[in-house]
Amino acid sequence: MRAALLEKNQQPLAVVGDITVERPRERDVVVRISHCGICHSDLTMVDLPEGGQLPAVFGHEAAGTVEEVGSAVTRLAKGDKVMLTPLPSCGTCYYCVRGEFSLCVDGQNFMTGLRADGTTPLSRAGQPVFQGFGLGGWGEIAVVDEGRAIKVDPDTPLEIACVIGCAVQTGVGAVLNTAKVEEGATVLVMGLGGIGISIVQGARLANASRIIVSDPVAERRDHASNFGATEILDPEGDDIVARVIEATGGIGVDYAFDAAGSSALIAQGLAATRSGGTTVMVGAPMDPLELPLPAMFLTQEKKLVGSLLGSCNGHRDIPRFLALWRKGALDLESMISARRPIEEINAGLDDMRARRGLRTVLEL
Ligand SMILES: NC(=O)c1ccc[n+]([C@@H]2O[C@H](COP(=O)([O-])OP(=O)(O)OC[C@H]3O[C@@H](n4cnc5c(N)ncnc54)[C@H](O)[C@@H]3O)[C@@H](O)[C@H]2O)c1
Ligand SMILES: [Zn+2]
Ligand SMILES: [Zn+2]
Repeated sequence: MRAALLEKNQQPLAVVGDITVERPRERDVVVRISHCGICHSDLTMVDLPEGGQLPAVFGHEAAGTVEEVGSAVTRLAKGDKVMLTPLPSCGTCYYCVRGEFSLCVDGQNFMTGLRADGTTPLSRAGQPVFQGFGLGGWGEIAVVDEGRAIKVDPDTPLEIACVIGCAVQTGVGAVLNTAKVEEGATVLVMGLGGIGISIVQGARLANASRIIVSDPVAERRDHASNFGATEILDPEGDDIVARVIEATGGIGVDYAFDAAGSSALIAQGLAATRSGGTTVMVGAPMDPLELPLPAMFLTQEKKLVGSLLGSCNGHRDIPRFLALWRKGALDLESMISARRPIEEINAGLDDMRARRGLRTVLEL
């Protein structure tokens, strides 16, 4: 099959046509991918100086049609339309039974997509090819554990819905599942890419009273109010902490979300939240995480929490977010700023590096 392949010390990505796909094993689902978004986590792996586990097919915001299922798969059949989620939720492990779905033991292989027995369904010239973030959505075919495929209605427009897979699950989920933002709460969102805009939309769904946002990119700030932002700040011109404290009558926000990923932004969130407030780490910091916590952190009872894929269970949350989109409560269309054939993957990655547009959806 054809896929955009990342190989060690080889930039840009090459679209190759000679990847071998193994027959499905018992619990596998073979999916013909139709659409896949580009997320910053993919770009991070592409730009890692030492490379990760390579060669790999990245792309984890994907959707398509079931082509074949393994002998033990009963929920899905050839021809079903499916959305894929990078993290499966088995429903029975230590974490799943406690409702902590994104920590499911079946998802612990999500960086490489390896099966429990250490094998990968993809290979090229006899060498293993990894499915990055558990999916490998930048290829025509993905072979995934059945826990990663969620059947959707046949009329679901996958070219729009695919952004739910990562951006919306991560952003809306961080608000509704991880932080459980309550009605009337005040929120700060730092970073307005696909993830940050989804956090803004989640805060609007939660009926937050104030949704204060910041991003150095003017175009992204300009669009934020369409998604629900109530106050817009420029981190290059504004003192974010001072402006947030001032805007909340000297108190600080109830919740701050870092949707860009740096120690400085997490510290900014901690300083901008009120006593007892919560800072949620959503962005993936690439610097060594250094957080000088003030002693007051203790007496102020501030909270710092991580959020992986918005603490989502794809089987619960993908249908939920699709339904919210259908009733007009979530805007997916405006999140997609470009559509490109897979051959233009490198131009799509360049757009993200230059922070042009918002989300690119690739057509396979
Ligand atoms: N926690 C998870 O499960 C999860 C899932 C997906 C992505 N991520 C991470 O989320 C982050 C965002 O992903 P994305 O796809 O939206 O990326 P993106 O590149 O589209 O957006 C990041 C935004 O942050 C902005 N930004 C940079 N510095 C800033 C600052 N000082 N203040 C405010 N904004 C700033 C950028 O201008 C950009 O608009 C990445 O780190 C990604 O790896 C985490
Ligand atoms: Zn992602
Ligand atoms: Zn589990």
